[in-house]
Amino acid sequence: MSSEQAEKAVLFYEQRSYHYDDSWHSDFTKRFASEIKIEPGQHVLDLACGTGLLTFLESEKVGRSGNVIGIDVTPGMLRVAELKKKKEEEKYSNVEFHHGDVLKLQEIEAVKGKQFDVITIASALVLFPDPQTAIEHWSEYLKPGGIIALDSTHPRNLIAGMVLERTARRLDLQVPYNREWSQNESSLKNVLESAGLEVEKVITIENQAGYGKRQYELEQWDDFFVENVIVKDVAKTFANNDIRRKAQGIYKEEWERLAVNGKVEEFDSVFLGIARKPADGSRHVSKSSSSNIVFEGSCRCGGVRYTSTAPPSDITLCHCRACQQISGSGFLPFVNVERKAFDFTHTSTLKTLVLSEFAERFFCTGCGAPIAMSYKFEESHFGIVFSSVNLETLQEKMPVVGKHIFLREKAPWVILPDDGAKRMETFEFAKQLGME
Ligand SMILES: C[S@@+](CC[C@H](N)C(=O)[O-])C[C@H]1O[C@@H](n2cnc3c(N)ncnc32)[C@H](O)[C@@H]1O
Repeated sequence: MSSEQAEKAVLFYEQRSYHYDDSWHSDFTKRFASEIKIEPGQHVLDLACGTGLLTFLESEKVGRSGNVIGIDVTPGMLRVAELKKKKEEEKYSNVEFHHGDVLKLQEIEAVKGKQFDVITIASALVLFPDPQTAIEHWSEYLKPGGIIALDSTHPRNLIAGMVLERTARRLDLQVPYNREWSQNESSLKNVLESAGLEVEKVITIENQAGYGKRQYELEQWDDFFVENVIVKDVAKTFANNDIRRKAQGIYKEEWERLAVNGKVEEFDSVFLGIARKPADGSRHVSKSSSSNIVFEGSCRCGGVRYTSTAPPSDITLCHCRACQQISGSGFLPFVNVERKAFDFTHTSTLKTLVLSEFAERFFCTGCGAPIAMSYKFEESHFGIVFSSVNLETLQEKMPVVGKHIFLREKAPWVILPDDGAKRMETFEFAKQLGME
């Protein structure tokens, strides 16, 4: 039985199979392969191998005394891989392709019970809903001391897809990928370390598809909406007319949110990570990353978890009506951290909602807990709901309440304590945003 993710992947990749090798993937897999040390005689597992672009390069590295197994769930991709193998049967006699879902390796006879020197997953990690769980599963098939190599996208890579993912999340719909967690090199490092691996390196590969950086006009949202939501919607996520109508407005909003000085920028970069399973086969507990982490947090059910490598600011109690409704209480407590210090490490139930024109809020759909918010005009910072911080992980002194904001909307039953904190009718950016 394939996972739901796998079924959606087949819908998407089956029709692309015969043209797949004409894309930038051909060049990217060469760059990917050049970053990994593969020795003659080694046993390699290439997951989500597609048409075998990387698998064949690995087969050349391991030589006759080694072997490479490629696994993919899309029959068309595997048919192309087999055709290529057949053309050079002798050269690629050390390669096998097998059909299967890489989230369920225990169901694939060819790999069941085996362990490999090297596991690779190129251009596929972001297709899986929970990257940490997937990596933990794959690590079971690594020999002690074996390495895993994989890549995840820059947040501004294929920007139209990122906008689509955010649109779908706001409509409570599933897209067949999860890119939101992959913000920078440390997001990938954290996921690998959380899965119990020792990270050897995480690097940024630029020019993945060869254009480097390009800019779009604000009005171009419409072209991308038609292309992604209407033409390429193979999983029929947006097929219902009512949903499509709603999606249109949201897609435009999300597109505009990403604009800087009226332009939406796209970078074709990815992060490539290489990590090792500890030589004694145990789970690695990262000293460096855990010592960098200043605090951790999670929702109630654990579906959303995060770390921060920066200390929290003082606490701001926000009394606005939205915070009252979201918290089911009189206010929400926020601490600020720099966005680059903050990482979502578990995102299986993470949902992003835009409930006002100024900010984006992050929730857990599993238990309903509010987690964080980010102001559109201050994307470099993140407001974390302080009640989601696990206080026993806090490596700095406990923050104190520094200010009360949006007191003009305060619930009448809330009595402010004599806490010496600053009191504001709105907040410091209200004028700039035309709120007062
Ligand atoms: C972008 S392609 C990458 C192919 C190849 N690794 C490369 O770099 O050219 C993504 C591949 O992931 C495969 N895939 C997605 N989900 C999968 C799953 N659950 N199990 C196996 N393969 C999967 C798709 O069928 C597709 O071939």
